[in-house]
Amino acid sequence: MPELTSKNPGVQSRVLLELGTSTSDGEHPVRVTPEVLFGRHCAVLGATGGGKSWTTARLLEECLRFDSKVILLDATGEYRDIADANAAHIHLGSPRVTSAGSSPVWLPAENFTESDFLALFEPSGKVQGPKLKEAIRSLRLAKLEPETFSKGFIEKIGQAKASYGAALSAGANAEKLDDPRQPFDVRLLPEQLEQECVYPEAFGRGPGVKDPTRWGGESGEFSFCIPLTTRIRAVLGSPSLSCVFNRKFATSSVLDEIESFLSGPSRLLRIDLSDVGFEFYAREVVANAIGRQILGLARSGAFYRKPTVAFVDEAHNFLGKRVGSDDFAAKLDAFELVAKEGRKYGLNICLATQRPRDITEGVLSQMGTLIVHRLTNDRDREVVERACGEIDKSSSAFLPSLKQGEAVLIGVDFPIPITIQVAPPTAKPKSDGGQFQSAW
Ligand SMILES: Nc1ncnc2c1ncn2[C@@H]1O[C@H](COP(=O)(O)OP(=O)(O)OP(=O)(O)O)[C@@H](O)[C@H]1O
Ligand SMILES: [Mg+2]
Repeated sequence: MPELTSKNPGVQSRVLLELGTSTSDGEHPVRVTPEVLFGRHCAVLGATGGGKSWTTARLLEECLRFDSKVILLDATGEYRDIADANAAHIHLGSPRVTSAGSSPVWLPAENFTESDFLALFEPSGKVQGPKLKEAIRSLRLAKLEPETFSKGFIEKIGQAKASYGAALSAGANAEKLDDPRQPFDVRLLPEQLEQECVYPEAFGRGPGVKDPTRWGGESGEFSFCIPLTTRIRAVLGSPSLSCVFNRKFATSSVLDEIESFLSGPSRLLRIDLSDVGFEFYAREVVANAIGRQILGLARSGAFYRKPTVAFVDEAHNFLGKRVGSDDFAAKLDAFELVAKEGRKYGLNICLATQRPRDITEGVLSQMGTLIVHRLTNDRDREVVERACGEIDKSSSAFLPSLKQGEAVLIGVDFPIPITIQVAPPTAKPKSDGGQFQSAW
C-alpha cells in the first residue's frame, strides 16, 4: 500500500508527499497527499528524541517541492538550516544565530489584547486588577483624543472632569474603550495607574460639600499598585519582550511579513522565536498573538486562494495553557481556535509535541492524522488511543519500542495504522543532544 491518496481512487494525484518507507508491509515508499495528511490537521507526537523535529523538517521539505504555502513557527530556531530558495526567514528580537537573509521583524504591542497584558503584568489583590483595567481604558481614550490629552495619558488628580466627559461622549468613543483590541500606549501605564488612584470627587465649598465636576486628591490606593508598576516597568524593559516593546532594527511587523508572504512567491515562511525568552510567559504570549494574527487572516479569507499549513513545533508550550495570575489569567487559545475553525478557511495546522497529555482533548480530537513516534509515558499513550477511536490496543502496544525516526501513521483516511521509517530531511534540525564523546 504505497500511496495514500484522497478517497477517489480513480484520480491520479499530482501532489504527493513522500514521508519514508513502510516497515510493517515490505519496504514500500509511503506517499501521502496533503489532503489526507493535513486536510483535517495533523499532529506529530512522541517522547523527546523520538524524531518529531526531523519528521517535521521532512514534511516541510516535501511541501517545498511543490508550489505550497507553509508557515513555520520555530520556537527554538532549530529549523534555521533550511536553505531552500523558496523559503523566507524572519526573526523576532536578536537570535544568537539566524538564517542567511533572515529579516528582523517586530510584534507591535497593538497586536496584544487586554488579556495578554493582564497575563504579562499579573495584577494581584483587590486593587491592582480593577485599577489596571481602568488605566487601560483611560489610555485608550487618550489615544482616541490626542488633542485633548497631549501628554498621552489622562491627568485626573485634582483636575476638572469637563474635557474628560466631552472626550468620553464624542463619537463612538465610549464603546471603543471596552474593545480589547483598541490600541493604547502601554508605556504610559505606570503614569496612568497613579492617576487612577484618586478620590472620585473633590471637596466643594463648605464642610462636607462635594464638587462632582472635579476629581479629588490622591486616594492612597497607589501604594497597593506600586508592586504592579514595578512589574510593568520590568516587563516593558525585559529583553525577552524587546521584540514587542522595543522596535530596534525591525522595519516591518510580523503581520506585514505574513501578508506579503501570502501574496508573494515564497513557499515557506519561518518565524524564528528563539530570542523571545520564557520570562513573564513572553514566548507563549507572543506565539499566541501570532497565532491570533494568522487566525484573523484566515477569517478574512486570506487562505481561500491557496490552502496554507501552519506548523507549530513544541506545541505543548502554546496550546491549551493558561498564563498569568488566577484572577486575570489569559487563555492561550489561538492555535486551539485554528484547529477548531481553520479548516473551513483553508488553514490547516500541523502540531508537534512531546506531551500529548498537555494538549486539550478538544484539539487532539480535531486532528485527522497522527504521526506517532516512540511514546513511553502511559498517559500519553492513553491520550493517543482515545484520540483515534479505531486504533486497537495492539497498535499502541509497540509505541514504546519504536526506533528513532520510526513512526506509526494513524488517521481517519487510513484503513489500518502503518509503521513507517521517516526519511531523514536534507537540512537536519539543530536538535542533537550534547556530544559527550568528542567534547569531554
Ligand atoms: N527519520 C530519522 N532517521 C534517522 N535518524 C533520526 C530520524 N529522526 C530522528 N532521528 C535521530 O533522532 C534524533 C532526535 O530527533 P528529533 O530532534 O527529531 O527528536 P524530537 O522528537 O524532536 O525531540 P524533542 O522532543 O526533544 O524536540 C536526531 O538527532 C536524529 O539523530
Ligand atoms: Mg524536537
